[in-house]
Amino acid sequence: MGRVIAVANQKGGVGKTTTSINLASSFAAAEINTLLVDCDPQSNASSGLGFAKDPERLSTYDLLMGAASAEECLQKPDLEQLWVIPAHKNLIGANLELVGADNREFRLRTALEPLRERFPFIVLDCPPALDLLTLNALVAADAVLIPMQAEYFALEGVSELLDTVERIRQSFNPALEIEGVVLTMFDERTNLAQQVAAELKKYFGEKLCATSIPRNIRVAEAPSHGKPVLQYDVRSRGAESYIRLAKELMEIEVRRRGERADADEGSVVPDHAATDLTAGDAGPELTPEPAMGIEPPDEPAVVEEAPSAGDLSGAVREQEPAAEAGAEPAAAVADAHPITATLVPQARTPLCGQPPVQPGAPAASAPHPMASDYDDLLVCEMNQESNPIAV
Ligand SMILES: Nc1ncnc2c1ncn2[C@@H]1O[C@H](COP(=O)(O)OP(=O)(O)OP(=O)(O)O)[C@@H](O)[C@H]1O
Ligand SMILES: [Mg+2]
Repeated sequence: MGRVIAVANQKGGVGKTTTSINLASSFAAAEINTLLVDCDPQSNASSGLGFAKDPERLSTYDLLMGAASAEECLQKPDLEQLWVIPAHKNLIGANLELVGADNREFRLRTALEPLRERFPFIVLDCPPALDLLTLNALVAADAVLIPMQAEYFALEGVSELLDTVERIRQSFNPALEIEGVVLTMFDERTNLAQQVAAELKKYFGEKLCATSIPRNIRVAEAPSHGKPVLQYDVRSRGAESYIRLAKELMEIEVRRRGERADADEGSVVPDHAATDLTAGDAGPELTPEPAMGIEPPDEPAVVEEAPSAGDLSGAVREQEPAAEAGAEPAAAVADAHPITATLVPQARTPLCGQPPVQPGAPAASAPHPMASDYDDLLVCEMNQESNPIAV
């Protein structure tokens, strides 16, 4: 099963879309079939990968409304092994149209289920609001990656997001993890950035990604060319950082799969499936060339010639192993994670007054609350200030 990562932070302009595009592209450049789902009516992830606005094209709206399957919504950007389900501004309507619908929180999860075997990574770009769209993304996700700028106000918004994550765990998706917190637009030269990073490290511990993303003009320019930064300027610091972040998350995933395979006594899963994120995961039509595995974390990085923009396949493998990245097993990292203990109230009333969904229970059997039960969850619903598309 692929790993579904929601890139979320209800604060606007922190680098969610930039991270979604460039992380997904870096996975793809590492020869891992990757799907990016644009869950934001602003549709920046779609335009940033070269998809012009087109109301006729199937999009995330059709997916959520049950009008099209995920397979039918797949679009192909100009990067091998990357697929996109684009968004259109009509997605803002789903927030309203789904309020009275059955299983409204599980729409995305159910829709993406058939694709999870084919894509080792599915990245969800969330809007800057804790609305029904973000809720759908967090219910569909295995983990949330939180981009954050190194500024003092950042923590305020994050504690709100962590509170939401905890409540989604209790009511809809008990397996939801924090994938990590990644510092974006980071300027390591300033004392302020250093101090804030140190402070965040105290809060987030190992969940603060070892890789931070520097402010880099090539990263900001790339979307206007409809390209991820590694196709726009693979040698830029921005491209290098996103490649390193992808490698950091890939190493954690490889380790997680290895641990899962070890724990699964008598498993019929073939040995390679534990460590090879690419082997056999994609359907034939999604594998243009035989895919190569990525190296297990303990092997030394393969030193190759620096790739050109036209030869991205070695880009991720060529990077130095991320310093300290995932030095501990993923399970140990999760145990050490201090966030919920420090920032989230320990006991919360489940949103719908029903027992939490059991891990592994099919989405269809999961309880879902009435519309009024989650009103307080949607703290920024249709917030016109944070979402300029809202009218
Ligand atoms: N590392 C970076 N270096 C320079 N500019 C960046 C970097 N990351 C993001 N930006 C710029 O910052 C702005 C906000 O980024 P982005 O759109 O990714 O944020 P967002 O969180 O998705 O925003 P929203 O909340 O509106 O969805 C964009 O103009 C983007 O080009
Ligand atoms: Mg965005």
